[in-house]
Amino acid sequence: MASERFHILCVVGARPNFIKIAPLMRELLRNGSPFRATLVHTGQHYDGAMKASFFQQLDIPEPDLDLEVGSGSHAVQTAQVMIRFEDALGRLRPDLVLVVGDVNSTLACALVAAKLGVPVAHVEAGLRSFDRSMPEEVNRVLTDRLSDLLFITERTAMDNLLREGIEPAQIHFVGNVMIDTLRHNLPRATPAVKVLADHGLPEKMLAEPGYAVLTLHRPSNVDDPAVLARLLSTLAELSERVPVVFPVHPRTRQRIMDTGLGAKLTQHRIFGLPPLGYLELLGLMRQARLVLTDSGGLQEESTALGVPCVTLRENTERPVTIEEGTNVLVGTSPAKIRQAVDDILTTGGKRGRVPDLWDGYAARRITEVLAHWTGLTLGASTAA
Ligand code: UD1
Repeated sequence: MASERFHILCVVGARPNFIKIAPLMRELLRNGSPFRATLVHTGQHYDGAMKASFFQQLDIPEPDLDLEVGSGSHAVQTAQVMIRFEDALGRLRPDLVLVVGDVNSTLACALVAAKLGVPVAHVEAGLRSFDRSMPEEVNRVLTDRLSDLLFITERTAMDNLLREGIEPAQIHFVGNVMIDTLRHNLPRATPAVKVLADHGLPEKMLAEPGYAVLTLHRPSNVDDPAVLARLLSTLAELSERVPVVFPVHPRTRQRIMDTGLGAKLTQHRIFGLPPLGYLELLGLMRQARLVLTDSGGLQEESTALGVPCVTLRENTERPVTIEEGTNVLVGTSPAKIRQAVDDILTTGGKRGRVPDLWDGYAARRITEVLAHWTGLTLGASTAA
């Protein structure tokens, strides 16, 4: 009987969560799955570009519940998720809550579940930037502390968690669900030529030297007008060597408007676009000469695609992208950014290799561990 199946409640809140939950929902809802899966969207990201297109493109089922929390300060947003999620748990009564990533919704829901005695599984556990000024770092440390099952994407996460006193038996190295989504969707990615044309950009941007893809949204890069101005000036200068395609996150758009820095874009070859859907950004990235970013997800995706990545941060919680992948860390120093881009344009940059278990089967491994943990047997279609 359906109601007797082990009930896993999956949580999403913000854009990177959508990408991570897609393969998990697919596995949990497979024919023959021993699980019942429901999906709660907290509503942290709510507008079309940040939500609807991802659900459609990634075939994520409509959430069973949307908590519609919207934006706010960290305390307000986290608290609103907690208040509404507590009510949702009371109604849905899951056997386990599964959270992904490191956004405010991740921590808020893990905390509510733990207080109500519902076991928590954290997918993408153990990543550490060791920089507590990043809101995500606080979310990571606390979510891991509260979790019963911790699924990790790279081996360094194991050391981090063991150092923090997590039991080895709770930690499972399963690979990277974000790369499951990438591999699943590569054949469907929108060709770069179409993405460019749809936004009025010329096809000749595909010719030598190609184009760079830029994303920026971290508070440390965009909230301080001096840092944002320095970054955009350096990138404007570099855009004379390689044109830059820049899908702009709403928070960054607001800051650029507030500070009057828009001219840095329009007077140079930095082409601002609205936030793109997953298939558009994937298509654009796979054909890019390089990626410039402060996003965690793009560091991993560029490594999986073999595209050189210049990370505009002082640290990364994803060291495997540097040790094995195509990533280099440069912070916001103009000299280091220039040097890294020059290296890519003249030598091609780091070749890198795809890290262990970033093979498209992480979600399957997670459901296998969950089945083992609950004492269930996976149906033939899942275990194959
Ligand atoms: C959040 C995550 C970050 C993740 C990022 C991906 C936290 C602490 N941060 O940051 O880890 O990398 O998502 O995008 O959870 N806004 C809209 N429409 C939306 C959502 C937001 O316009 O649908 C605007 C609002 O002005 C809002 C601002 O963007 O204040 C920031 O949104 P918020 O969810 O607070 O954090 P992000 O910067 O998106």
